[in-house]
Amino acid sequence: MDRRIIGLTLIVICILVGIAQGEQRELCSLSAKNLPQCLITSIQSIIPILVKGIPRYGANPMDPMHIDKLDLSHSPGKTLNVKHKFTNVEISGLGSAVIRHVRLNPQKVEVDVNAILSKPVVLTGNYISQGKIISLPIRGGGKFNITLVNMRAVLKMKGHEINKNGKRHIVLDSVKFPFKIDKMILNFENLLRGNKLLSETLNNVLNENWEAVLLDMKPSFEEAIGSAFQDFANKILSRVPVSSLVQD
Ligand SMILES: *[C@@H]1O[C@H](CO)[C@@H](O)[C@H](O)[C@H]1NC(C)=O
Repeated sequence: MDRRIIGLTLIVICILVGIAQGEQRELCSLSAKNLPQCLITSIQSIIPILVKGIPRYGANPMDPMHIDKLDLSHSPGKTLNVKHKFTNVEISGLGSAVIRHVRLNPQKVEVDVNAILSKPVVLTGNYISQGKIISLPIRGGGKFNITLVNMRAVLKMKGHEINKNGKRHIVLDSVKFPFKIDKMILNFENLLRGNKLLSETLNNVLNENWEAVLLDMKPSFEEAIGSAFQDFANKILSRVPVSSLVQD
């Protein structure tokens, strides 16, 4: 395997661990037999920093993660025909990630981190929904919460190296966050304005059909969480050059 390229994928991890520990050093030996386990341990140790964020780098907390707007209306219910817009969304629980597996692609600057979340991931915020559920017109708005149970996720990072003011830096071009869950629990307050009983019935319909509802919402969730991670990592990577971590 190309030592230098593996080094690049490791950089992201090392920089974060270095910042966490107030020093910057290479933690896992690239040639070590225990590299996979060393990576898992290193990434696990980064999570408390991700949770809190790093204000001096402008990197926002990951748990709870704040998202101003989550527009789910471009994936209008393939199944249930309801369009949702969420605002002022807080996602909690991502900090409960337990790292299971780390995969490096030696050909490219790519890292996949597999994790299970030991706590439910809960989204809360405000919503506006429009559409139809079982032929009832929906025009609701108010508070909502969504609980995602037993999440298994992969943080898929891809990047490349650039030269900035004569120094080597890593930029992440894409971060994806595909996930699987065992159950989704939805609560939309006031789904049918002024009709509490019917609102409850409609919530029950959504919950009975959670798999279909999830299909509509999943791309937006994955995109929002992925780009929050990307933003976090790039804020740090743009400030800390590769040369402060590895010898060429
Ligand atoms: C979700 O909403 C329901 C109904 O409004 C409420 O009873 C429950 O406490 C909320 N859960 C969370 C985690 O906010």
